[in-house]
Amino acid sequence: MDDSKFVEQLMQEVYSEQTDKNEKLSYISAQSGGLLPEPVVKHWLNFAVYYERSAVSFIGGWLKDTHETTALSNFANQIRDEAKHYRWLAKFMPDYGMMPEAFTPPDAWKFLMEEYYPSLETSIERLAAHNIAAECGALGFMEFHLDRFPPKLRDYVNRIIRDEHYHVTFGKNLLAKYCKTDGEQELARRAIRESMQHMRNARESFVSAPSMLTTEGVN
Ligand SMILES: [Fe+2]
Ligand SMILES: [Fe+2]
Repeated sequence: MDDSKFVEQLMQEVYSEQTDKNEKLSYISAQSGGLLPEPVVKHWLNFAVYYERSAVSFIGGWLKDTHETTALSNFANQIRDEAKHYRWLAKFMPDYGMMPEAFTPPDAWKFLMEEYYPSLETSIERLAAHNIAAECGALGFMEFHLDRFPPKLRDYVNRIIRDEHYHVTFGKNLLAKYCKTDGEQELARRAIRESMQHMRNARESFVSAPSMLTTEGVN
């Protein structure tokens, strides 16, 4: 299949998952001023800080056997970005009475961040599973609720969104470059689907947490 058509099809799969997910996220009701309820902000912060910190670790682990020069330099830049996101978000945690190291992620999240992503062996699988599937997933909550974040956090979330779009974009460009054969395209497709399946399991534990369910207006 033609490179750009192949990547376009991958993105369609991810976007249709996203539409379904956004419908589920729309139940989070607003507090006065349209802001996200504080328990939801705290819950998101815990997961986001864990995600950013984990990304620094597993992308760092990928570098030692990343042989493609462009992928190596892009992953290195991405580590810098994820570390910056971790630092930005972690500094808000004490305002909410939390500390990054006090968060115990649910098993499905631990598996995703500490076993599944680190275990991916090729740049094609890494780019497909993380840069495309996971980063689009992380962007979903931030973009969908951007105007509802507390003002002090909103500017940082906006800057993170810009960086995450860059991670998705270089993922798409490199997949188009590296997936020339049917076998390589199939490897990417399988990694995206597998990642989305694991993310569905992880998302269940995110949206079913008491802080999400006790917000007004949940159906
Ligand atoms: Fe990030
Ligand atoms: Fe990222």
